[in-house]
Amino acid sequence: MILSAFSPLLKLPALAGLTRDTLLRMDPETAHGATISALKLGLAPQQGQPDGAELRTSLCGLDLANPVGMAAGFDKNAEVAAPLARMGFGMVEIGTVTPRPQAGNPKPRLFRIGPAQGVVNRMGFNNEGHEAAFARLKETRIPAALGVNIGANKDSADFVADYFLGVERFAELADYLTVNISSPNTPGLRNLQADEALKRLLGEVLSARAKARMRVPVFLKIAPDLDEAALDAIAETILATDLDGLIVSNTTISRDMVVGLENAGETGGLSGRPLFALSTRKLAQMRQRLPALPIIGVGGIHSAQSALAKIEAGANAIQLYSALVFGGLDLLDVIKRGLVAAVRAEGKTNIAQLVGRKTADWAEGRIGG
Ligand code: FNR
Repeated sequence: MILSAFSPLLKLPALAGLTRDTLLRMDPETAHGATISALKLGLAPQQGQPDGAELRTSLCGLDLANPVGMAAGFDKNAEVAAPLARMGFGMVEIGTVTPRPQAGNPKPRLFRIGPAQGVVNRMGFNNEGHEAAFARLKETRIPAALGVNIGANKDSADFVADYFLGVERFAELADYLTVNISSPNTPGLRNLQADEALKRLLGEVLSARAKARMRVPVFLKIAPDLDEAALDAIAETILATDLDGLIVSNTTISRDMVVGLENAGETGGLSGRPLFALSTRKLAQMRQRLPALPIIGVGGIHSAQSALAKIEAGANAIQLYSALVFGGLDLLDVIKRGLVAAVRAEGKTNIAQLVGRKTADWAEGRIGG
């Protein structure tokens, strides 16, 4: 899916045809599998120059070379964290992993909305389970922050217990953990965002963390479909705990932005460009409620300008996935170069100085509304 930047570097004739255009003509899940295979074979470009000082970012005590990460869902089984890191992502988030392996939903379950540069997925946490990811990560050291995104098995009798197991399993391996309660594709999962359920969940997760040898930062990943009252309740709960940060947001169940387009009617979560304004507004609204909390902004980043806008709305760091499907991996360098240029143009020395300077405009709909 993200191979457009690879074509000059492809070493094997059989894979030399895997340009972005070829991948975009393939069934989306087949294209994704081909991309993972190519990365495993080492057919990925590596970052040339180290990142400049303008991009260096501290997040919950993690020292990131740059604030741009690979979002969860691309490398569900921790197969290609190292090649992704060597390409120049400042963080790589693997998963979602669930305690037991699960097949996910029947195919087809991944769809492009080409004209809007959107993606709909109802993968359903297809993954090989904790042990497979753990075994791979145990052997892996990556030149970026490693995030492990944990979830619950669809048929679990106790979702909260699955998150507890995730923290226990990965606390010592991960640079940070993400508690993902915002996938729309596991029935009932997003109910964990509701007040009492969230209190219980965070209590359990943070008690598992307290028992671990290392104090790993824990992020909560939320949906963009929460209303202001729900955001209030989540912010209040977070303030009463020692959760380290938020990720805003996961995919949306809304289709308002893609009405009438092919595949818009598919069930699942919408991501990519059509998600940008909604997810950025929710991010800004959480930033207003939690001025000091580290927040990773995700959703619809597709250019240097949109990456910068996410940061100005209040993100300390950002992640992306869907735009790489359409833009190819060149996009990572384009974004990083654009962020450096923005820092310099403002007469600043570091990207952190741009965080949140347009939060109110985003939160109140004067931008992106
Ligand atoms: C995702 N995303 C996701 N998120 C998560 O926390 N766990 C997961 O397993 C997945 N799986 C997944 C699969 C596919 C195919 C896509 C497109 C997305 C959501 C992803 O991490 C991100 O939050 C959203 O996609 C919004 O960012 P983009 O894609 O608009 O940059």
